[in-house]
Amino acid sequence: TPTPNVIAASLGFTAVAKSLLDKVVIPAGYSYQVIYALGDPLTAATPAFKNDGTDGDFENRAGDHHDGMEYFGLDAAGKPSASGVDRALLAMNHEATTDADKSSFFLFPTGGTSTLPRPAAEVDKEVAIHGLSVVEIKATNKKWATVQTSAFNRRVTPLSEVEIAGPARGNALLKTKYSADGTKTRGTINNCGTGKTPWGTFLSGEENWAGYFFRVAADDTVRGDKSVVSLKRYGRIAGDKSRHGWETGGSDDKYARWNISKLGASVDGSDDYRNEMNGQGYIIEMDAYDKTKALKKRTALGRFAHESAAFGLPVVGKPLTVYLGDDSRNEYMYKFVSKALWSAADANPADRMATGDKYLNEGTLYVAKFNADGTGQWIELSMANPTIAGYATYKFADLADICVNTRLAGDAVGATKMDRPEWGGVHPVTGEYYQTLTNNSNRNVNPTGSSQLAPDSANPRAYQDTDGPNASKNVGNPNGHILRTKEGASVGAFTWDVYLFGAEADADKAMINLSNLTDDQDMSSPDGLAFSQSTGICWIQTDDGAYTDVTNCMMLAAIPGKVGDGASKALSYTKTDGSKLDVTTKVGAAPAADKLKRFLVGPKDCEITGLCETPDGKAIFINIQHPGETTKMADVADPTKYTSQWPSNAGYGAGKRPRSATIVITKDDGGRIGS
Ligand code: FEO
Ligand code: CA
Ligand code: CA
Ligand code: CA
Repeated sequence: TPTPNVIAASLGFTAVAKSLLDKVVIPAGYSYQVIYALGDPLTAATPAFKNDGTDGDFENRAGDHHDGMEYFGLDAAGKPSASGVDRALLAMNHEATTDADKSSFFLFPTGGTSTLPRPAAEVDKEVAIHGLSVVEIKATNKKWATVQTSAFNRRVTPLSEVEIAGPARGNALLKTKYSADGTKTRGTINNCGTGKTPWGTFLSGEENWAGYFFRVAADDTVRGDKSVVSLKRYGRIAGDKSRHGWETGGSDDKYARWNISKLGASVDGSDDYRNEMNGQGYIIEMDAYDKTKALKKRTALGRFAHESAAFGLPVVGKPLTVYLGDDSRNEYMYKFVSKALWSAADANPADRMATGDKYLNEGTLYVAKFNADGTGQWIELSMANPTIAGYATYKFADLADICVNTRLAGDAVGATKMDRPEWGGVHPVTGEYYQTLTNNSNRNVNPTGSSQLAPDSANPRAYQDTDGPNASKNVGNPNGHILRTKEGASVGAFTWDVYLFGAEADADKAMINLSNLTDDQDMSSPDGLAFSQSTGICWIQTDDGAYTDVTNCMMLAAIPGKVGDGASKALSYTKTDGSKLDVTTKVGAAPAADKLKRFLVGPKDCEITGLCETPDGKAIFINIQHPGETTKMADVADPTKYTSQWPSNAGYGAGKRPRSATIVITKDDGGRIGS
């Protein structure tokens, strides 16, 4: 891992304005190129992408909805090299697809089939655009391009074979018709945030996987066991429709696996797919450099709507720490601490996946509880914790059960329910962890029902926007915030504050714009977050639905301070019954004009996501995800009705259908990005 040579003292570019244009806007003195979009060929034999709905063979093309992404350097000879700056592999997630009425309509000439059953050929195409890809990139005279003929190029799809690793490997909860001994599963799905291990592999978080599965209305009764508690906790309700109806594609197991109803007569589930969903929801590890190595699901890191996996700064002779978030409303923040102690020799190991086995299969998982005084606890999730062993709602059998049903373990210990933990990153000097909390429509001063929560110290805002898409809704915390934690003297202790509150610049500074954001800094719904290892800049990316009347989604550069550099802040709410609700939070120092600036605004209907860089910090790669996603399915054949025509309107590729794509940004004077 390259160490940051300089933490930039201030941001050297001029902030870009908020924008509703259908283009990528970046500061003066910078340039960008599109290099890798949905459908781009990954083998020499794969034809160019026509982008008219007739293309096939997506197992050999870039997938859809580019998301988290990591950079793996190569030397001139094509060997792994942490210092490679002009030849590399990009490994990335293809999270999902732009869909309506079940169909991924841009992939079909006239939009595909929105009724059930779904045709097998449509299902096959939709499955293949999910998963991961690895693509070689090369800079020639400072101009980057993918290498279509590279032997490194690779797709992983929801049908690729994957090993189950860690405590849940071989457990009864993983037994299926596909893997009667519970050691394997098929593929990975809805991959969102990423991570890069200190030994040079790619980590990917499986996020909203539950919606792809279906179970019949009678399944709760047919099962009649504690698996029903698990399925409900993870949001898979009997009788609810699946996202795409893939289970209706045919009788072959590749379709039948998406129906997780109990259908067979076995006790252990080895004759049907009742346990199939337990094979999704993990951090999956891939050696981007070696396609012959099996992918592995690291079950020790828990099962939930995973985002990124961010490593604490490695210290020789100490355990490794991995920070994790569960991105759903009112879910938790976690950390994993390895049993193995970090060895400097493992930074460049002969067998990278074996090194993953060493650090990620054994350790302790913790969940976060926040106190009002700026302290917190990391609570151990293991059978050694009597609160878990004695939990009445769900009787945990063993550590494997905790690794599969991690949300229930978090419930058992009373962890703090957060405003949607998205990505996180570790400050390369202070080692403090920054966690985006993107928004939460279930935060409410007058909570009703079991899903709504009153504001608390770590999630202190609940308010209604007065203009824009949320003006008429009760929106809780529509703009999100970024919380940071600092490890304490023991593994179970931490301190925290809120680094930044998202807000519109003209919002009330007493209750909403608590970080005093200006027009050059204001943003809503922070989602992606990553620190540059070269400049130390904290890059913040948005996936917003609240400020989109004023601006498309964006990326900002930040030079944050540290936990405790601000002050306590008292927020006083008046409830509908006239009583007061007083919440005290910890707010970081308001960012100065040269410490937080908007760097980029994306085209229409996109989110900005994925961030990686060359080790010298002179090129950064980001993803523009789902431009034009609110286009109506009925308008698929009429480009004039697309809400975005990016990137074809930026000169990239055939056809006018919008495509998720990777861009590379460089500074015209050859300097480091943002500094
Ligand atoms: Fe895939 Fe939570 O963003
Ligand atoms: Ca507004
Ligand atoms: Ca995200
Ligand atoms: Ca998102």
